[in-house]
Amino acid sequence: MTDTHPASPASQSGGGPSPSLENLLHETRAFPPSEEFAAQANATADLYTAAREDRLGFWAEQANTLLTWKTPFTETLDWSGAPVARWFADGTLNAAYNAVDRHVEAGHGDRVAFHFEGEPGDTRTVTYADLQREVSKAANALTELGVRTGDRVVVYMPMLIESVVAMLACARIGAPHSVVFGGFSADALRSRIADAEAKLVITADGGYRKGAPSALKPAVDAALAGEGAGTVEKVLVVRRTEQDVDWTDGRDVWWHDAVDGASDQHEPVWVEAEHPLFILYTSGTTGKPKGILHTTGGYLTQTAYTHKNVFDLKPESDVYWCSADIGWVTGHSYIVYGPLTNGATQVLYEGTPDTPHKGRWWELVEKYKVSIFYTAPTAIRACMKWGDDIPAGFDLSSLRLLGSVGEPINPEAWMWYREHIGGGQAPIVDTWWQTETGAIMISPLPGVTATKPGSAQVPLPGIAADVVDDEANVVPNGSGGYLVLSEPWPSMLRGIWGDLERYKETYWSRYEGLYFAGDGAKKDDDGDIWLLGRVDDVMNVSGHRLSTTEIESALVSNDIVAEAAVVGAADETTGQAVVAFVILRGEHADRAATDDGAAEVQTELRNHVAKEIGPIAKPKRILVVPELPKTRSGKIMRRLLRDIAEDRQVGDATTLADSTVMDKIAAGLKAPA
Ligand code: WTA
Repeated sequence: MTDTHPASPASQSGGGPSPSLENLLHETRAFPPSEEFAAQANATADLYTAAREDRLGFWAEQANTLLTWKTPFTETLDWSGAPVARWFADGTLNAAYNAVDRHVEAGHGDRVAFHFEGEPGDTRTVTYADLQREVSKAANALTELGVRTGDRVVVYMPMLIESVVAMLACARIGAPHSVVFGGFSADALRSRIADAEAKLVITADGGYRKGAPSALKPAVDAALAGEGAGTVEKVLVVRRTEQDVDWTDGRDVWWHDAVDGASDQHEPVWVEAEHPLFILYTSGTTGKPKGILHTTGGYLTQTAYTHKNVFDLKPESDVYWCSADIGWVTGHSYIVYGPLTNGATQVLYEGTPDTPHKGRWWELVEKYKVSIFYTAPTAIRACMKWGDDIPAGFDLSSLRLLGSVGEPINPEAWMWYREHIGGGQAPIVDTWWQTETGAIMISPLPGVTATKPGSAQVPLPGIAADVVDDEANVVPNGSGGYLVLSEPWPSMLRGIWGDLERYKETYWSRYEGLYFAGDGAKKDDDGDIWLLGRVDDVMNVSGHRLSTTEIESALVSNDIVAEAAVVGAADETTGQAVVAFVILRGEHADRAATDDGAAEVQTELRNHVAKEIGPIAKPKRILVVPELPKTRSGKIMRRLLRDIAEDRQVGDATTLADSTVMDKIAAGLKAPA
């Protein structure tokens, strides 16, 4: 397994960085930037020097040059309340004004902000002036609907222009948004609405996915019918697919009724730099998702800074496309806030890469002459599988820079990306960061760094990251350990919504004064950082974070399941795949003893998980077992289950309470299941 996918996170997660990844360090290829690229690059090596000499001065300069402030700040960082940072705290600004209005004021109103492409092929071109009008109207409409500065708004949308407008309208009035990925279930939506105590939900009738309309509104109706969602007063609904929807009079309002007729004049609400901009829920190691809180000034500074320097954006000439969904942090930072703050022209695509054909992405690159493209390893591996001839059928010569994010990219996929998408020329930036970090932290600088296939390599100028051992000692080059961040950074999370203790416990309790990222990492002989995947019970499936515990709770909430254990197993396409081991209750165990019965149970449970969490969390395999391997203290030894899930010889089982359990499990699995 590790021979073909050396960077697969699953091959080492659970027990910390493993020697089986030694072969990663045998990857010695390096690709320096061409002289031509280096000569025109936004970022030069001087950035490292400047940041090293005066780190806070460096960030203050970024904040002053990249953003427009209503009131200038006088203090860069206040760390006295560590681990909650305050950056640029006495300055005031507005994120939507920075993302939109100031470009219009600077005479760039006619510049295209978005080339929108719907999955069915409908298109829409939106300039910065259009965006200013739309966001202002939507801000007026939200105010009219009773939303005030500080109120939380949940956005549950497909990938539409209105989704971006909705986020910016919230920012414009200082109402933190909480975007919930459209693929999440009604239950997941409800718990997020409840945790944030949202006042308004913005949604759509549906969106197009894989060639068909896919409904969203019914999930909102179901979520609001459940307990805990009583804070929601109104639901604003965008018409997209024209599917029939149930309507609750007095609560539901069509977007076109509320927004289209609203005034397009709106004065942004100037907020303090530390005013909450958004909450975004992400999986942790327990069942309850964490509401990651980001504020305005520092977040905007670092998303703009990284977008400019890592992607080398030239706003006048580049066409930038990030294929992420706005439901994930990548969509927040690298579709909405970073690129728009920098005045970029972007492609926004509603659908999936293989609809109506497997060349859809490359067709769009050709059509819009995309020059910068940012996607995830899982997508690259899927494209690899579909075949080289597909991208070869399109003119991709406009591409001059490629990015990767979400999970470790294995060298094979990196090389394929370079050769078949980047024409063997375009630098690849492998960007490491998290929902919590808000913006890119570790990445090559494309005009400076000689890139290495599979490594994110170096902390950006202004960022302090390192690899430490169990005792917090920095490991020497050539060794592995845990990734930590040793200085506060502007776009860092300001906490977990409503749970400061959990914030401290999760990120700051493992090592005194160091942020623990939860990722294993290794430094090569040059000191470059190679990320090795999660070291906790968080899985990474297609670049999406899923918690083993959350899926286990979903499984045991089904009546037929007595006990469940979930592991992430290495998967060629998705990085990791969810594999569940379940013990069934009484008669159901007998039912699963036949082939048909087992298949029935599988389907039942997979659908159940989809309903509880969302289709992305569906286990790829569900194995019915008589027992689970547990230590004497009752902790499930996932490592052993992972061995089974990855078809490996089962490792050391001597610390099990009952050492015969693994044999029993293996014996059961040999039966046709
Ligand atoms: C993983 C996504 C290796 C990592 C922006 C991290 C990566 C988690 C990379 C955060 C990368 C992200 N190389 N691993 N370039 N980028 N990861 O919060 O395990 O969805 O902790 O943020 O993804 O996932 P999240």
